[in-house]
Amino acid sequence: MQLDTLYVQNFRCIATGDISLSPQVNCIVGDNASGKTTLLEAIYILGRGESFRQSRLSKAIRQQADSFTLRTRLLGDHDSRHRIGAHVTRGSNRFKLDDQTETRRFDLISTLPLQHIDPNVHRLLEQGPKYRRHFLDWGVFHVEHAFFPAWRRYRRALKQRNRALRAHQPKHQVIAWDAELVQQGEIIDACRRQYLEHIKRRLPESTRRLVGDDDLTFVYHPGWRGEQGFGHALANSLDQDIRAGFTQHGPHRADMQVSVASTQARDWVSRGQQKLLTAALLLAQADILHAKRGIRPILLLDDMAAELGHTYRKALASEVIRVGAQSFLTFLNRESIPELLAESRMFHVEQGCVTTP
Ligand SMILES: Nc1ncnc2c1ncn2[C@@H]1O[C@H](COP(=O)(O)OP(=O)(O)OP(=O)(O)O)[C@@H](O)[C@H]1O
Ligand SMILES: [Mg+2]
Repeated sequence: MQLDTLYVQNFRCIATGDISLSPQVNCIVGDNASGKTTLLEAIYILGRGESFRQSRLSKAIRQQADSFTLRTRLLGDHDSRHRIGAHVTRGSNRFKLDDQTETRRFDLISTLPLQHIDPNVHRLLEQGPKYRRHFLDWGVFHVEHAFFPAWRRYRRALKQRNRALRAHQPKHQVIAWDAELVQQGEIIDACRRQYLEHIKRRLPESTRRLVGDDDLTFVYHPGWRGEQGFGHALANSLDQDIRAGFTQHGPHRADMQVSVASTQARDWVSRGQQKLLTAALLLAQADILHAKRGIRPILLLDDMAAELGHTYRKALASEVIRVGAQSFLTFLNRESIPELLAESRMFHVEQGCVTTP
Protein backbone atom coordinates (compact mmCIF):
# COMPACT_ATOMS: atom_id res chain seq x y z
CA MET A 1 0.00 0.00 0.00
CA GLN A 2 1.45 3.34 -0.96
CA LEU A 3 0.53 6.92 -1.49
CA ASP A 4 1.71 8.29 -4.77
CA THR A 5 1.06 12.00 -4.32
CA LEU A 6 -0.19 14.33 -1.63
CA TYR A 7 -1.93 17.62 -2.29
CA VAL A 8 -2.60 20.01 0.58
CA GLN A 9 -4.29 23.39 0.40
CA ASN A 10 -4.97 25.91 3.16
CA PHE A 11 -4.27 23.35 5.83
CA ARG A 12 -2.84 24.98 9.01
CA CYS A 13 0.42 26.75 8.02
CA ILE A 14 0.51 25.19 4.54
CA ALA A 15 -0.93 27.39 1.77
CA THR A 16 -0.34 24.82 -0.97
CA GLY A 17 1.78 21.72 -1.17
CA ASP A 18 1.80 19.18 -3.96
CA ILE A 19 4.37 16.48 -3.47
CA SER A 20 5.35 13.25 -5.09
CA LEU A 21 6.09 10.52 -2.54
CA SER A 22 8.54 7.67 -2.31
CA PRO A 23 6.97 4.21 -1.95
CA GLN A 24 9.46 3.53 0.84
CA VAL A 25 10.81 5.96 3.43
CA ASN A 26 10.00 9.68 3.25
CA CYS A 27 11.88 11.96 5.66
CA ILE A 28 10.37 15.36 6.41
CA VAL A 29 12.91 17.78 7.83
CA GLY A 30 12.30 21.25 9.23
CA ASP A 31 12.59 23.52 12.22
CA ASN A 32 10.01 23.76 15.00
CA ALA A 33 6.63 25.04 13.79
CA SER A 34 7.59 24.63 10.14
CA GLY A 35 4.72 22.23 9.32
CA LYS A 36 6.15 18.70 9.67
CA THR A 37 3.45 17.30 11.94
CA THR A 38 0.93 19.13 9.78
CA LEU A 39 1.95 17.00 6.79
CA LEU A 40 1.56 13.78 8.79
CA GLU A 41 -1.77 15.05 10.08
CA ALA A 42 -2.96 15.60 6.50
CA ILE A 43 -2.23 11.95 5.65
CA TYR A 44 -3.81 10.81 8.92
CA ILE A 45 -7.04 12.70 8.20
CA LEU A 46 -7.28 11.09 4.77
CA GLY A 47 -6.96 7.65 6.36
CA ARG A 48 -9.06 8.13 9.47
CA GLY A 49 -11.51 10.92 8.77
CA GLU A 50 -10.39 12.64 11.96
CA SER A 51 -7.32 14.36 13.34
CA PHE A 52 -4.99 13.25 16.13
CA ARG A 53 -4.78 16.88 17.30
CA GLN A 54 -8.30 18.24 17.61
CA SER A 55 -11.77 16.90 17.31
CA ARG A 56 -12.96 19.85 15.19
CA LEU A 57 -11.34 19.59 11.78
CA SER A 58 -12.35 23.14 10.88
CA LYS A 59 -9.77 24.43 13.39
CA ALA A 60 -7.12 23.30 10.93
CA ILE A 61 -8.35 25.64 8.18
CA ARG A 62 -5.55 28.08 7.46
CA GLN A 63 -6.09 31.51 8.97
CA GLN A 64 -7.97 33.78 6.60
CA ALA A 65 -9.07 30.87 4.38
CA ASP A 66 -12.60 29.44 4.24
CA SER A 67 -11.78 25.78 3.75
CA PHE A 68 -8.98 23.25 3.40
CA THR A 69 -8.52 20.54 0.81
CA LEU A 70 -6.46 17.36 1.02
CA ARG A 71 -6.05 14.81 -1.75
CA THR A 72 -4.04 11.69 -2.31
CA ARG A 73 -3.71 8.84 -4.79
CA LEU A 74 -3.33 5.40 -3.33
CA LEU A 75 -1.85 2.31 -4.95
CA GLY A 76 -3.14 -0.66 -2.99
CA ASP A 77 -1.26 -3.90 -2.31
CA HIS A 78 -3.58 -5.89 -4.54
CA ASP A 79 -3.26 -3.65 -7.60
CA SER A 80 -6.16 -1.50 -6.48
CA ARG A 81 -6.05 2.24 -7.09
CA HIS A 82 -7.97 4.84 -5.19
CA ARG A 83 -8.36 8.57 -4.92
CA ILE A 84 -9.13 9.98 -1.50
CA GLY A 85 -10.05 13.57 -0.83
CA ALA A 86 -11.17 15.74 2.08
CA HIS A 87 -12.80 19.14 1.88
CA VAL A 88 -13.48 20.87 5.16
CA THR A 89 -15.28 24.18 5.57
CA ARG A 90 -16.38 25.90 8.79
CA GLY A 91 -19.72 24.16 8.45
CA SER A 92 -19.02 20.73 6.96
CA ASN A 93 -16.49 17.90 6.56
CA ARG A 94 -16.69 16.08 3.25
CA PHE A 95 -14.68 13.00 2.37
CA LYS A 96 -14.59 11.34 -0.98
CA LEU A 97 -13.28 7.92 -1.89
CA ASP A 98 -13.12 7.54 -5.68
CA ASP A 99 -16.56 8.40 -7.05
CA GLN A 100 -18.56 7.42 -3.99
CA THR A 101 -21.13 10.05 -3.21
CA GLU A 102 -21.16 9.31 0.48
CA THR A 103 -17.88 8.26 2.06
CA ARG A 104 -17.92 7.17 5.70
CA ARG A 105 -15.01 6.97 8.13
CA PHE A 106 -15.31 3.21 7.90
CA ASP A 107 -14.52 3.39 4.14
CA LEU A 108 -11.43 5.51 4.74
CA ILE A 109 -10.11 3.36 7.57
CA SER A 110 -10.63 0.17 5.57
CA THR A 111 -9.01 1.61 2.43
CA LEU A 112 -6.01 3.34 3.97
CA PRO A 113 -4.77 1.53 7.08
CA LEU A 114 -2.20 3.64 8.85
CA GLN A 115 -0.25 3.56 12.07
CA HIS A 116 0.77 6.73 13.86
CA ILE A 117 3.71 6.75 16.24
CA ASP A 118 4.05 10.13 17.89
CA PRO A 119 6.43 11.48 20.55
CA ASN A 120 3.89 10.59 23.26
CA VAL A 121 3.50 7.03 22.12
CA HIS A 122 4.63 5.73 25.52
CA ARG A 123 1.27 6.83 26.94
CA LEU A 124 -0.04 3.58 25.51
CA LEU A 125 1.68 1.82 28.38
CA GLU A 126 1.39 4.56 31.01
CA GLN A 127 -2.10 5.91 30.74
CA GLY A 128 -5.61 4.58 31.08
CA PRO A 129 -7.02 1.52 29.27
CA LYS A 130 -8.65 3.61 26.52
CA TYR A 131 -5.39 3.92 24.56
CA ARG A 132 -4.62 0.24 24.86
CA ARG A 133 -8.12 -0.75 23.74
CA HIS A 134 -7.75 1.59 20.81
CA PHE A 135 -4.41 0.04 19.92
CA LEU A 136 -5.76 -3.48 20.17
CA ASP A 137 -8.92 -2.73 18.24
CA TRP A 138 -7.05 -1.14 15.33
CA GLY A 139 -5.45 -4.50 14.66
CA VAL A 140 -8.57 -6.50 15.44
CA PHE A 141 -10.61 -4.31 13.07
CA HIS A 142 -8.26 -4.89 10.15
CA VAL A 143 -7.68 -8.59 10.70
CA GLU A 144 -10.81 -10.12 12.28
CA HIS A 145 -13.79 -9.50 10.03
CA ALA A 146 -16.43 -10.40 12.58
CA PHE A 147 -15.24 -7.60 14.85
CA PHE A 148 -16.65 -4.43 13.34
CA PRO A 149 -20.29 -5.47 12.83
CA ALA A 150 -20.34 -6.90 16.36
CA TRP A 151 -18.74 -3.75 17.77
CA ARG A 152 -21.31 -1.56 16.06
CA ARG A 153 -24.24 -3.59 17.37
CA TYR A 154 -22.67 -3.75 20.83
CA ARG A 155 -22.22 0.03 20.95
CA ARG A 156 -25.82 0.59 19.95
CA ALA A 157 -27.18 -1.79 22.60
CA LEU A 158 -24.86 -0.34 25.25
CA LYS A 159 -26.08 3.16 24.51
CA GLN A 160 -29.69 2.06 24.91
CA ARG A 161 -29.00 0.16 28.12
CA ASN A 162 -27.17 3.15 29.59
CA ARG A 163 -30.00 5.44 28.56
CA ALA A 164 -32.46 3.18 30.39
CA LEU A 165 -30.21 3.17 33.47
CA ARG A 166 -29.83 6.94 33.47
CA ALA A 167 -33.55 7.44 33.11
CA HIS A 168 -34.20 5.05 36.09
CA GLN A 169 -36.41 2.91 33.89
CA PRO A 170 -37.74 -0.36 35.37
CA LYS A 171 -35.36 -3.33 35.51
CA HIS A 172 -37.03 -5.23 32.67
CA GLN A 173 -36.33 -2.33 30.31
CA VAL A 174 -32.68 -2.33 31.28
CA ILE A 175 -32.15 -6.07 30.91
CA ALA A 176 -34.04 -6.10 27.62
CA TRP A 177 -30.67 -5.16 26.05
CA ASP A 178 -28.62 -7.84 27.78
CA ALA A 179 -29.06 -10.65 25.24
CA GLU A 180 -27.77 -8.46 22.40
CA LEU A 181 -24.93 -7.12 24.56
CA VAL A 182 -23.84 -10.61 25.54
CA GLN A 183 -24.09 -12.03 22.03
CA GLN A 184 -22.09 -9.22 20.42
CA GLY A 185 -19.78 -8.82 23.43
CA GLU A 186 -18.71 -12.44 23.19
CA ILE A 187 -17.85 -12.03 19.51
CA ILE A 188 -15.77 -8.92 20.31
CA ASP A 189 -13.99 -10.78 23.09
CA ALA A 190 -13.24 -13.80 20.89
CA CYS A 191 -11.84 -11.57 18.12
CA ARG A 192 -9.62 -9.73 20.58
CA ARG A 193 -8.30 -12.94 22.12
CA GLN A 194 -7.55 -14.39 18.72
CA TYR A 195 -5.71 -11.25 17.67
CA LEU A 196 -3.72 -11.16 20.90
CA GLU A 197 -2.39 -14.61 20.08
CA HIS A 198 -0.82 -13.16 16.91
CA ILE A 199 0.69 -10.31 18.93
CA LYS A 200 2.09 -12.69 21.51
CA ARG A 201 3.74 -14.68 18.78
CA ARG A 202 5.30 -11.71 17.01
CA LEU A 203 6.09 -9.15 19.64
CA PRO A 204 9.02 -10.87 21.39
CA GLU A 205 11.04 -10.91 18.14
CA SER A 206 10.62 -7.23 17.44
CA THR A 207 11.14 -6.30 21.10
CA ARG A 208 14.35 -8.28 21.13
CA ARG A 209 15.56 -6.45 18.06
CA LEU A 210 14.58 -3.08 19.51
CA VAL A 211 15.30 -3.23 23.23
CA GLY A 212 17.30 -6.43 23.47
CA ASP A 213 14.76 -8.08 25.78
CA ASP A 214 12.09 -10.56 24.84
CA ASP A 215 10.91 -11.65 28.27
CA LEU A 216 7.39 -10.32 27.86
CA THR A 217 4.10 -11.30 29.40
CA PHE A 218 0.62 -10.22 28.45
CA VAL A 219 -2.43 -10.00 30.58
CA TYR A 220 -5.75 -9.44 28.88
CA HIS A 221 -8.75 -8.20 30.88
CA PRO A 222 -11.94 -8.78 28.92
CA GLY A 223 -13.85 -6.07 30.83
CA TRP A 224 -15.62 -8.26 33.39
CA ARG A 225 -14.60 -10.51 36.25
CA GLY A 226 -15.36 -14.13 36.92
CA GLU A 227 -15.05 -17.34 35.03
CA GLN A 228 -18.71 -17.71 34.19
CA GLY A 229 -18.81 -15.42 31.22
CA PHE A 230 -20.09 -11.99 30.34
CA GLY A 231 -23.79 -12.86 30.68
CA HIS A 232 -23.27 -13.87 34.28
CA ALA A 233 -21.19 -10.82 35.11
CA LEU A 234 -23.78 -8.52 33.55
CA ALA A 235 -26.64 -10.10 35.49
CA ASN A 236 -24.66 -10.00 38.74
CA SER A 237 -23.86 -6.32 38.41
CA LEU A 238 -27.40 -5.16 37.60
CA ASP A 239 -28.01 -3.59 41.02
CA GLN A 240 -24.62 -1.88 40.95
CA ASP A 241 -25.33 -0.61 37.42
CA ILE A 242 -28.66 0.81 38.57
CA ARG A 243 -26.92 2.66 41.42
CA ALA A 244 -24.11 3.91 39.15
CA GLY A 245 -26.42 4.82 36.25
CA PHE A 246 -24.28 3.07 33.61
CA THR A 247 -23.09 -0.38 32.53
CA GLN A 248 -19.90 -1.07 34.42
CA HIS A 249 -18.78 -4.31 32.84
CA GLY A 250 -18.25 -5.46 29.29
CA PRO A 251 -15.83 -5.33 26.37
CA HIS A 252 -16.02 -1.52 26.47
CA ARG A 253 -13.96 -1.76 29.69
CA ALA A 254 -11.35 -4.22 28.38
CA ASP A 255 -7.65 -3.66 28.96
CA MET A 256 -4.36 -5.39 28.39
CA GLN A 257 -1.03 -5.14 30.12
CA VAL A 258 2.38 -5.76 28.73
CA SER A 259 5.07 -6.69 31.21
CA VAL A 260 8.80 -6.91 30.77
CA ALA A 261 10.50 -9.47 32.98
CA SER A 262 7.31 -9.81 35.01
CA THR A 263 7.12 -6.15 36.06
CA GLN A 264 4.51 -3.98 34.43
CA ALA A 265 6.22 -2.20 31.56
CA ARG A 266 5.39 1.27 32.81
CA ASP A 267 7.13 0.68 36.16
CA TRP A 268 10.26 -0.82 34.86
CA VAL A 269 11.51 0.44 31.57
CA SER A 270 13.15 3.80 30.84
CA ARG A 271 11.34 6.36 28.73
CA GLY A 272 13.42 5.44 25.68
CA GLN A 273 12.72 1.74 26.22
CA GLN A 274 9.05 2.45 26.74
CA LYS A 275 8.98 4.26 23.41
CA LEU A 276 10.65 1.41 21.64
CA LEU A 277 8.48 -1.19 23.30
CA THR A 278 5.40 0.70 22.16
CA ALA A 279 6.84 1.14 18.67
CA ALA A 280 7.48 -2.62 18.68
CA LEU A 281 3.80 -3.21 19.48
CA LEU A 282 2.69 -1.00 16.60
CA LEU A 283 5.18 -2.47 14.16
CA ALA A 284 4.19 -6.00 15.18
CA GLN A 285 0.64 -5.01 14.23
CA ALA A 286 1.88 -3.88 10.83
CA ASP A 287 3.58 -7.28 10.39
CA ILE A 288 0.38 -9.10 11.37
CA LEU A 289 -1.69 -7.12 8.88
CA HIS A 290 0.76 -8.03 6.17
CA ALA A 291 0.89 -11.70 7.15
CA LYS A 292 -2.90 -12.04 7.42
CA ARG A 293 -4.16 -9.83 4.61
CA GLY A 294 -1.15 -9.02 2.43
CA ILE A 295 -1.49 -5.33 3.29
CA ARG A 296 1.28 -3.10 4.56
CA PRO A 297 -0.16 -0.16 6.46
CA ILE A 298 1.37 3.28 6.08
CA LEU A 299 3.56 4.34 9.00
CA LEU A 300 3.65 7.89 10.32
CA LEU A 301 6.47 8.46 12.81
CA ASP A 302 6.54 11.94 14.23
CA ASP A 303 9.77 13.23 15.76
CA MET A 304 11.11 9.72 16.15
CA ALA A 305 14.53 10.95 17.28
CA ALA A 306 13.08 12.73 20.33
CA GLU A 307 14.45 11.21 23.54
CA LEU A 308 16.24 8.45 21.65
CA GLY A 309 20.01 8.16 21.57
CA HIS A 310 22.09 6.88 18.68
CA THR A 311 21.63 3.15 19.36
CA TYR A 312 17.85 3.25 19.78
CA ARG A 313 17.42 5.54 16.80
CA LYS A 314 19.37 3.14 14.66
CA ALA A 315 17.41 0.15 15.97
CA LEU A 316 14.08 1.85 15.23
CA ALA A 317 15.21 2.93 11.76
CA SER A 318 16.23 -0.61 10.93
CA GLU A 319 12.85 -1.95 12.15
CA VAL A 320 11.04 0.57 9.96
CA ILE A 321 13.08 -0.60 6.98
CA ARG A 322 12.49 -4.25 7.86
CA VAL A 323 8.70 -3.79 8.05
CA GLY A 324 8.92 -2.52 4.47
CA ALA A 325 5.89 -0.23 4.62
CA GLN A 326 5.72 3.21 3.08
CA SER A 327 6.66 5.50 5.91
CA PHE A 328 6.78 9.18 6.76
CA LEU A 329 9.24 10.30 9.41
CA THR A 330 9.86 13.81 10.70
CA PHE A 331 13.14 15.24 11.95
CA LEU A 332 14.25 18.63 13.24
CA ASN A 333 17.44 18.57 11.20
CA ARG A 334 19.47 16.37 8.89
CA GLU A 335 21.89 15.43 11.67
CA SER A 336 19.20 13.58 13.62
CA ILE A 337 18.36 11.27 10.68
CA PRO A 338 19.92 7.84 11.28
CA GLU A 339 22.48 6.92 8.64
CA LEU A 340 20.38 3.94 7.56
CA LEU A 341 17.78 6.37 6.23
CA ALA A 342 20.21 8.62 4.39
CA GLU A 343 19.02 7.35 1.00
CA SER A 344 15.33 8.07 1.68
CA ARG A 345 13.38 10.75 -0.14
CA MET A 346 13.89 14.03 1.69
CA PHE A 347 11.41 16.86 2.06
CA HIS A 348 12.34 20.17 3.55
CA VAL A 349 9.63 22.20 5.26
CA GLU A 350 10.01 25.87 6.07
CA GLN A 351 7.17 28.12 7.17
CA GLY A 352 4.62 25.86 5.56
CA CYS A 353 6.49 25.49 2.21
CA VAL A 354 7.48 21.96 1.25
CA THR A 355 10.41 21.47 -1.09
CA THR A 356 12.53 18.53 -2.25
CA PRO A 357 16.21 19.36 -2.04
N1 LIG B 1 -5.35 26.91 11.50
C1 LIG B 1 -4.08 27.33 11.37
N2 LIG B 1 -3.76 28.34 10.51
C2 LIG B 1 -2.49 28.75 10.37
N3 LIG B 1 -1.45 28.22 11.03
C3 LIG B 1 -1.71 27.21 11.90
C4 LIG B 1 -3.02 26.72 12.11
N4 LIG B 1 -2.99 25.72 13.02
C5 LIG B 1 -1.69 25.59 13.36
N5 LIG B 1 -0.91 26.49 12.70
C6 LIG B 1 0.55 26.68 12.78
O1 LIG B 1 1.19 25.71 12.00
C7 LIG B 1 2.55 25.66 12.39
C8 LIG B 1 3.12 24.28 12.12
O2 LIG B 1 2.84 23.37 13.15
P1 LIG B 1 3.46 21.88 13.15
O3 LIG B 1 2.95 21.29 14.39
O4 LIG B 1 3.17 21.21 11.87
O5 LIG B 1 5.02 22.16 13.27
P2 LIG B 1 6.23 21.11 13.35
O6 LIG B 1 7.11 21.37 12.18
O7 LIG B 1 5.73 19.74 13.53
O8 LIG B 1 6.96 21.63 14.67
P3 LIG B 1 7.65 20.83 15.89
O9 LIG B 1 9.03 20.46 15.42
O10 LIG B 1 7.73 21.87 16.95
O11 LIG B 1 6.81 19.67 16.25
C9 LIG B 1 2.59 26.15 13.83
O12 LIG B 1 3.30 27.36 13.87
C10 LIG B 1 1.12 26.43 14.14
O13 LIG B 1 0.96 27.59 14.93
MG1 LIG C 1 5.74 18.45 15.16
